[in-house]
Amino acid sequence: MDFASLTTEYQHHFNASPQRLFFSPGRINLIGEYTDFNGGHVFPAAISLGTYGAFTPRPDRTVRMYSANIPAAGMVTFSLDDLSYQQTAGWTNYPKGMLYELAQQGHSIETGFDLYVHGNLPDGAGLSSSASIEMLMGVILKNVYNLDVTQLDLVKAGQLVENDYIGLNSGIMDQFAVGMGRQNQAVLLDTNTMAYQYAPVDLGDYVVVIMNTQKRRELTDSKYNERRQQCEEALRRLQAKLSITSLGELSEQQFDESAYLINDEVLIKRARHAVFENQRTMRAFAALQNHDLATFGHLVNASHVSLHYDFAVSGTELDTLVETAWKQPGVLGARMIGAGFGGCAIALVQQDHVADFETVVGEQYAAKIGHPAEFYLAEIADGPREVQKSALI
Ligand code: GLA
Repeated sequence: MDFASLTTEYQHHFNASPQRLFFSPGRINLIGEYTDFNGGHVFPAAISLGTYGAFTPRPDRTVRMYSANIPAAGMVTFSLDDLSYQQTAGWTNYPKGMLYELAQQGHSIETGFDLYVHGNLPDGAGLSSSASIEMLMGVILKNVYNLDVTQLDLVKAGQLVENDYIGLNSGIMDQFAVGMGRQNQAVLLDTNTMAYQYAPVDLGDYVVVIMNTQKRRELTDSKYNERRQQCEEALRRLQAKLSITSLGELSEQQFDESAYLINDEVLIKRARHAVFENQRTMRAFAALQNHDLATFGHLVNASHVSLHYDFAVSGTELDTLVETAWKQPGVLGARMIGAGFGGCAIALVQQDHVADFETVVGEQYAAKIGHPAEFYLAEIADGPREVQKSALI
């Protein structure tokens, strides 16, 4: 995908040249999974795969949107006078939700626009294509209509789109990772305080390989919301004796000593993941800072084990990729990322071994699962941005 073909595609659908061009990344998460709605830490990074947008303002109050990724949806048209959620509006609910949430906060726009989007993030693969589109819309609105909002305001509006507009009770990780992305840096975010810290992703001669199960995350939303409820119930039971407001406040030892209060096998497992994963994330961050890659890799593996056994959000496809990856030479660590059940995993692989790694893991995956996996090298990239047309010539 490049901006020249984006422009041509736009012309084809809108019979004019786009006035402005934008890009918004996807994200990976090095470690810190399912901690973001538990007041824990996450350690994600934006990637160079993402969503391209070509944009022209209109003089009236009409908005037209077209996605090259979902051509069956065709051209979707709506008016700024009705920004309500519509099931039939499909993917456009994400950018429309941004218009709605920002308008709720007093940042409404007076005139509409034409928007063409084309993403190279595999759809439904757990690399946050929805946060990518939300933040694309956010940066367009901020830049074109001069909205008086910070990047963090856009991130929070994106989370509201998911929570209130779409109905997925997700945390803030995806929008934060995308919206605050920086080239070659991951960001450690404490979701309890919203304090954050960038750290170079300095893996020596190792690279991050993204492994796509090519299994869409079906039923993810209901399972996701159920996991969140389970964590909240466990917290409620702990609060009978502990004065805490989130699971992220507990150390492993404090959790062990209080788990009897939860007194339910499933809830204990869910909460244990949240507590231990948060502690692991802080240790992994420190290990990376200290160039202790072996420890970092072990913590990445431990994250997967916990997501599989305690949080139960992995699956045969993800486990096959990760467990096969663990056995390959030159691999520091591997784990599923994102909401799970399908989607993507990552592996930290020594550069010289990447080609063999992809061949062997690919073959074993296809033999067991019956369809191929896909592999991409993650490039850690900047957050959403406008691309000057003049710079492209
Ligand atoms: C999804 C959600 C995030 C986060 C992850 C799991 O990506 O959108 O908020 O909870 O799952 O870590």
